[in-house]
Amino acid sequence: MQVEIIDISYDGCGVGRVDGKVVFVPRTDIGEIVDVQIVKENSKFSTGKVVKVLKKSKSRCESKCPYFDECGGCDFQFLDYGREIELKTKILENELKKVNFFEKIAVFPAKTRFNYRNKIKLTYVDDKLGYLKSQSKKVIDIDFCPLAESEINDAIMVIKKYLKKYKYQNLKSVTFRKSDESVLISFLFSQKEKFFYDEILGDFVVGVFVGDVLESNKTVLTSIFHQKECHKTILCKKIPVDFASFFQVNDEVASCLYQTIIKNVAGKKVVNAYSGQGALSLLLAEKATKVVGIEVQKSSHLIAEKLKTSNMKNINGLVEKELSKLLKNENYDIIVLAPARAGCEKSGIDAIKNAQIKEIFYISCNFSTLIRDLKLLCEKYKIKSVQVFDMFPSTANLEVLVSLEKII
Ligand SMILES: C[S@@+](CC[C@H](N)C(=O)[O-])C[C@H]1O[C@@H](n2cnc3c(N)ncnc32)[C@H](O)[C@@H]1O
Repeated sequence: MQVEIIDISYDGCGVGRVDGKVVFVPRTDIGEIVDVQIVKENSKFSTGKVVKVLKKSKSRCESKCPYFDECGGCDFQFLDYGREIELKTKILENELKKVNFFEKIAVFPAKTRFNYRNKIKLTYVDDKLGYLKSQSKKVIDIDFCPLAESEINDAIMVIKKYLKKYKYQNLKSVTFRKSDESVLISFLFSQKEKFFYDEILGDFVVGVFVGDVLESNKTVLTSIFHQKECHKTILCKKIPVDFASFFQVNDEVASCLYQTIIKNVAGKKVVNAYSGQGALSLLLAEKATKVVGIEVQKSSHLIAEKLKTSNMKNINGLVEKELSKLLKNENYDIIVLAPARAGCEKSGIDAIKNAQIKEIFYISCNFSTLIRDLKLLCEKYKIKSVQVFDMFPSTANLEVLVSLEKII
């Protein structure tokens, strides 16, 4: 079936129409004409797979990754980086129309499109270690990931050798995180299983976990082999890292994002909601008169407590519970919101709307929850500017910073 691509969907798929029905075609550019095989269909739309490109975008290029055709990890490696940025910005512009924002967006591309990820999580199934195949639950076995920092790629080879020797039955995934000192590695099992410590692992295995997810309070830590404290340095601040705590995945772009916010807080009282391990709070506290971080996760909160300065306070709790209590007792000038993909709870947004905060910086990596939350915030606030930071080159994701001011 022949499809002309006329638009781009919020998750980076080309959009066409056949007999009036929408067809989503991953890995196509606007203006292309493609021969498509339908792989999924319902009454409203179909999803197609490119069989042949009949009219090619001038931005189409060879992917640098040998796994790109099969792997579901990346979306835009078939296009040059300039076009990737154009398309991602267009997706965001389309979404922002829903909150009546039609102005120009400032774009900060990444300096490097590859070898930027300081953390990757690989799935382990049937002796294969890698990412899930596009539109399937099968794992594509990889020797390296072009998006990962090179030290992580060295570590992948070590771990693959190790896994060939110890064929674990219940291993679900292996996570790699690059710190200043070494690559930290953790193994996640679905059930308790004897873990073999082998010299080949060197001294970088940090944890063996049993549970569903790392980065959640539900993960049960069963043992730690290596207690050495590791750090990440961001804008000259040395931050302790562990596996349970969130850290932005792209050091260069995270620094750029943080710098943009810090510029605005001199002499102000700031709430840093969803503050994670406190790196941003610490940076804000250098300029602001007072910074209060709110973070639910205990291990992140404990790191933030280690970083605490005299004008910094950390609250361990839910933003939707703690914010109204905080704002009832004291007035703040600025709030930074950096929620996870799920966005903010309505009660947290209500607490902001009922207080006297003049300015909001909303950091988001999820367009749909961002727009949902902006709709509520815009009842009392006006969007001043939107800036995008390409935290995740080669994928359809972007980090967005929306600055809002109170309507007087
Ligand atoms: C995207 S991270 C941002 C962390 C930090 N601002 C940064 O830039 O590194 C979101 C953080 O919010 C925390 N979190 C998620 N839901 C929360 C809630 N309802 N209340 C408080 N913290 C929450 C997570 O544990 C995580 O540390």
